[in-house]
Amino acid sequence: MMKNEEGTAARQAAQMAVSLRRHFLAHPGYDTVQRLFRKLMDKRQAELELGLTSEGRGIAVIGESGSGKTTAIQRILRRLDAADAGAGELRWISIRVPTPATQKDLARAILHALDFQILRDTTASRMWDLVSFHLHLRKCWLIHLDEGQELGGRGSEVEKAAVINALKSLMQIRDWPTNLVISGTPELHDLLMQDPQLSRRLFVVHFLPVTELDSRDEIALTVTRYAELAGLSQAPDLADVEFVPRLIHAGREQFGIVVELIIGAITRALAAGEAALSVKDFAHFYAERTGDVSGRNPFIVPDFRNVQTGRSALVAEPQVRRKRGR
Ligand SMILES: Nc1ncnc2c1ncn2[C@@H]1O[C@H](COP(=O)(O)OP(=O)(O)O)[C@@H](O)[C@H]1O
Ligand SMILES: [Mg+2]
Repeated sequence: MMKNEEGTAARQAAQMAVSLRRHFLAHPGYDTVQRLFRKLMDKRQAELELGLTSEGRGIAVIGESGSGKTTAIQRILRRLDAADAGAGELRWISIRVPTPATQKDLARAILHALDFQILRDTTASRMWDLVSFHLHLRKCWLIHLDEGQELGGRGSEVEKAAVINALKSLMQIRDWPTNLVISGTPELHDLLMQDPQLSRRLFVVHFLPVTELDSRDEIALTVTRYAELAGLSQAPDLADVEFVPRLIHAGREQFGIVVELIIGAITRALAAGEAALSVKDFAHFYAERTGDVSGRNPFIVPDFRNVQTGRSALVAEPQVRRKRGR
């Protein structure tokens, strides 16, 4: 290619990458969470209409990093119907649990999302009173806490118990009980299950790993879907029986990471002006993203199942999220 043609191809590839990243694939975990959201909303709506309040409920979404928790929940939140929300009403807020998460840190983060700044240091109990007041004032009936495993974080056992109690209290605010959606890694599950009163109020959804055994066809279809969206055909080597297992292994069996690998490979193929997506695009992208140019590339080496694909090298920085609903 000529130099300026290359520049155009790279720009077009970057544009395509942006649009592919916006594409959302529904999956069983997402469908389940969506159904539970609907249940929470319907219950809340019915109570409001009848002028009743019972205690809040919650959904815990558990999955490894890169399994797609944040993406799924943000999508559901954005689509919650807030059309009838009055001025100043928020309906829901979404926050990332601060580290370390003492109960004061958590209260401050919630107040911040409710557009209320605490200027002076005050007692935890006063802060939770303010939280209750502002939740009600803003008609905020749902709080999403992301990276919920941090709730058990660095604190002492006493502090941890205080945080758990604060969560329970949120669901029991008189006149305005709040529903919780908490997402996090499997450590969060252990943390929540330690408290019978809290776990009793929660529905739990697991975002399971995509495994060779269960998800082969689904992942193959996902590759096809994205290639089609990008207008690329698939080179014969993608039909190799080992390709999908390699992709799953490289993506650490996490759905979102696998999707990122697919988009990365496609972007590379487009930037190079190729008409077909092939294994080498995956190999190149993997090498680029991990900085791993040694002979340990799961798309290349024969014994790819023994390649350590590491923990978070491939997970993108969490994107800046909308802090609240309108
Ligand atoms: N359902 C989906 N459809 C398409 N891409 C997804 C989907 N779920 C996750 N992703 C992609 O996977 C990446 C990781 O997902 P994320 O939601 O951040 O995972 P988690 O919060 O579980 O760590 C994101 O960059 C996102 O674009
Ligand atoms: Mg996340």
